[in-house]
Amino acid sequence: MTQTSSGQAEIGVIGGSGFYAFLDDVTEVTVDTPYGPPSDSLFLGEVAGRTVAFLPRHGRKHHLPPHRINYRANLWALRSLGVTQVLGPCAVGGLREEYGPGTLLIPDQVVDRTKARTQTYYDGEALPNGQVPNVVHVAFADPYCPVGRRTAVRAARSSGWEAVDGGALVVIEGPRFSTRAESLWHAAQGWSVVGMTGHPEAILARELGLCYTSLTLVTDLDAGAEHGDGVSQEEVFKVFADNVARLRNVLFDVVGELPRASERDCLCAHALDGLDTGLDPA
Ligand code: ADE
Repeated sequence: MTQTSSGQAEIGVIGGSGFYAFLDDVTEVTVDTPYGPPSDSLFLGEVAGRTVAFLPRHGRKHHLPPHRINYRANLWALRSLGVTQVLGPCAVGGLREEYGPGTLLIPDQVVDRTKARTQTYYDGEALPNGQVPNVVHVAFADPYCPVGRRTAVRAARSSGWEAVDGGALVVIEGPRFSTRAESLWHAAQGWSVVGMTGHPEAILARELGLCYTSLTLVTDLDAGAEHGDGVSQEEVFKVFADNVARLRNVLFDVVGELPRASERDCLCAHALDGLDTGLDPA
């Protein structure tokens, strides 16, 4: 594998638990950011004529728990390589019986139940590179890229995987799983799946004007929806491993179908229109 400290990519893929490699033929790029290092090197390669940067969210050896991931560094690192569209596959628990293990759900909403994560670039703190972010409030009513979502649902379905189109992903702080009462409460709110990493990834992408699409793979029924002893890490990893090959294939198809950067015209592409952010991640 070639190693370097610079590179360019159009599309970023942030792999979750059990998803540590995406492409076979890659260039490993080490990137530093004003927020410190990302979870790992970025692995650059080509899929369907598009350049892709893969980043293992928890590090390639899974050494970072969800609450220790440097989300700001991860999104900044992707953006600094030229990425404009991010795909974020992750393992989740199903909050309803019909969303059992193996379900692929493409959420259209996110609920933040995390407690201690920095979730903005616009906190007024000067960066080591001298840039000073302004006070900026970006729209987040629709947290995911509508084009990316549509593309993901279509790609999954045409591969024979009947993806669920929409639903709310509730993100908990972790690293523990929910109690039964918490899980029942999440379900009673009408939320669909529960995970630990979906937030603040999507908002940070939006704050940089990037498209972000979440692809949630249900690895277990969460405590309120199942009748056994609750969720175990072992079952999460096993189900993810059983599905990672087909998820990778869906991602390949999505990458090939996403619009080119110059053709983006979704709400994410316009998220920073008219705003003076004070930041330049390029
Ligand atoms: N990731 C995978 N399964 C999960 C669950 N049940 N709760 C939170 N995060 C998860």
